[in-house]
Amino acid sequence: EEIEKGGFEHFMLKEIFEQPVTMQEVMRGRVRHEDGFVRLGGIEDYLDRIRDARRIVICACGTSWHAGLIGEYLLEEFARIPVEVDYASEFRYRNPILDEHDVVIVISQSGETADTLAALRLAKEKGALVVGICNVVGSTIARETHCGMYTHAGPEIGVASTKAFTAQVIVLYLLSLVLSKDRSLSRHDISLYLRELGEVPEKVSRILELNDQILEIAREYVDSRNCLYLGRGYNFPVALEGALKLKEISYIHAEGYPAAEMKHGPIALIDKDMPVVFIAPQDATHGKILSNVEEVRSRKGRVIAVANEGDEEIARLADHVIYIPSAAAPVTPLLNVIPLQMLSYHIATLRGCNVDRPRNLAKSVTVE
Ligand code: G6P
Repeated sequence: EEIEKGGFEHFMLKEIFEQPVTMQEVMRGRVRHEDGFVRLGGIEDYLDRIRDARRIVICACGTSWHAGLIGEYLLEEFARIPVEVDYASEFRYRNPILDEHDVVIVISQSGETADTLAALRLAKEKGALVVGICNVVGSTIARETHCGMYTHAGPEIGVASTKAFTAQVIVLYLLSLVLSKDRSLSRHDISLYLRELGEVPEKVSRILELNDQILEIAREYVDSRNCLYLGRGYNFPVALEGALKLKEISYIHAEGYPAAEMKHGPIALIDKDMPVVFIAPQDATHGKILSNVEEVRSRKGRVIAVANEGDEEIARLADHVIYIPSAAAPVTPLLNVIPLQMLSYHIATLRGCNVDRPRNLAKSVTVE
């Protein structure tokens, strides 16, 4: 096992650090960054049907569901196809309105999650085309879907998903671009978005160099009882994922919220004992995020901000700033999630938790 961990203390840390490589693996053979070429062999025969979908429904559980939420933003932005995202466990029991004009995308790292499998079978029964996004090759979900794409992230051992999540998001990004071709995006736009994606692995490597800084921040929050994560747009699902990572492995209660919703509830909880993690890239909503930060500060909340290099304004307001490289909005989830994975890892290990095997959780939930 020590050999498999490749010198890292835990599988989770190894898998976090593998991401610059696994991200390349997802793109390998599928993308030519120079001229905007992108091809997804696994769905090629079904492309027309997917493009003509009346709507796309994404079903998944846990972290895969968060990837699905980012997929909603990507598919609607790039491909202009209406998307709904559902927990597989809710979808399967609510007699969903579905027929052959719909496409259902099921996302599962393991390819064995019971609820996701049941959602897949129900969608097929109702005549929808079912597309899979799985990591484990030959898994039940991969076999039972009509077509699909593998995430090629390699085996993920840590119970808390990290590299599989970023691989899922990249597959959804590529799928959104494939569907937008000759329709909603020009070749030029597609090649710009591919180039942005192509720069991500190197930017992730730079973020991983912040490990020591993030460990130091983690030391200050080891004894926290609660934590709030806020983000907007593409990074609202990242806030949910950051909160899930923290609660899964450190057992600190954490919630993710769209930043603008803070005033409709979570603001009531803010005091000196409430750390708030802001995902604050320099995009169209940056000014609004800054005023949310001020609202937290005026209530004595502690602020950890993930912001872009050069953003000095936020440094005046936040207790800690984790500076990461800037990027086009649609790729920012792939960057912003990395420091959140590292922060959770360090807080959990400092608390003495077994991060690779957190209590009560399973890597693959094959029963209801
Ligand atoms: C479990 C795991 C999570 C995972 C979820 C969905 O809860 O602990 O890490 O996100 O199942 O699993 P799947 O294999 O379907 O992606």
